[in-house]
Amino acid sequence: MMTDHKHILVLTGSGISAESGISTYRGGADGDEGLWSAVDFQKYASPEGFREDPDGVHNFYNVRRAQIRTVAPNPAHFALARLQKYLARQGGSLTLVTQNVDDLHERAGAETLHMHGEILKGFCNMCDRPRFMVDGDLHTSDGCDACGRIGTLRPDVVWFGEIPYHMDTIYDALGRATLFVSIGTSGSVYPAAGFVQEARNLGMETMELNLDPSDNAHAFDVAEYGLAGDIVPAWTAQWGV
Ligand code: OAD
Repeated sequence: MMTDHKHILVLTGSGISAESGISTYRGGADGDEGLWSAVDFQKYASPEGFREDPDGVHNFYNVRRAQIRTVAPNPAHFALARLQKYLARQGGSLTLVTQNVDDLHERAGAETLHMHGEILKGFCNMCDRPRFMVDGDLHTSDGCDACGRIGTLRPDVVWFGEIPYHMDTIYDALGRATLFVSIGTSGSVYPAAGFVQEARNLGMETMELNLDPSDNAHAFDVAEYGLAGDIVPAWTAQWGV
């Protein structure tokens, strides 16, 4: 039974935030064309693109950061936060790993591991200053508060070719979990797309909750297709939350 699982690892992608009004990257059956069909991801999501046109890349993230501040978590974010708290009270765990750079899981009340970083934060390319919250926008003319250099700040977003965050913690949690659930992700970007195979190798049950079958849909034991705002709360309702 689903509710026998005490330790769960949930991976989310941009589909969980789609109903909040944030565009996905590759679109879906709802007609959303996705961000990467409108702009070249190599320009806006790579260290090379940033080196070539830092103003253009800052502007791209400034616009998205401003938009994220105007939206709100949806029922899928709240349902995961409720299940995380419930399992913790029972001595279990729901490790929530997201590829999303928005803060909607946190705003719904969930502790979250952001493997692709957080757009609301920034860091300095040149010094050890800890990640900092970005109040407004980032610009090439900004100086670093710690080292004083100009033009060294960048969004705390993991770009293609960079190493995702929290990988050790995520693999530790996978090792403890008995159920792996993938929500709102196309399963096309590694290493996240490989978690389902790792989970299978570890003998875990695997489940996909998505609008469309993902690239690795065949690897899941169970799948439900629909809007995250409907199917995620329906899934967590099995625990009575
Ligand atoms: P994608 O845009 O690749 O996939 C979004 C998935 O969400 C698709 O499978 C859709 O069917 C599904 N979807 C859309 N609307 C949904 C809804 N309302 N409810 C449920 N599912 C819905 O987004 P990701 O898989 O998150 O990385 O993309 C992975 C990574 O690629 C991102 O983190 C980003 C991107 O390039 C970096 O920037 C490094």
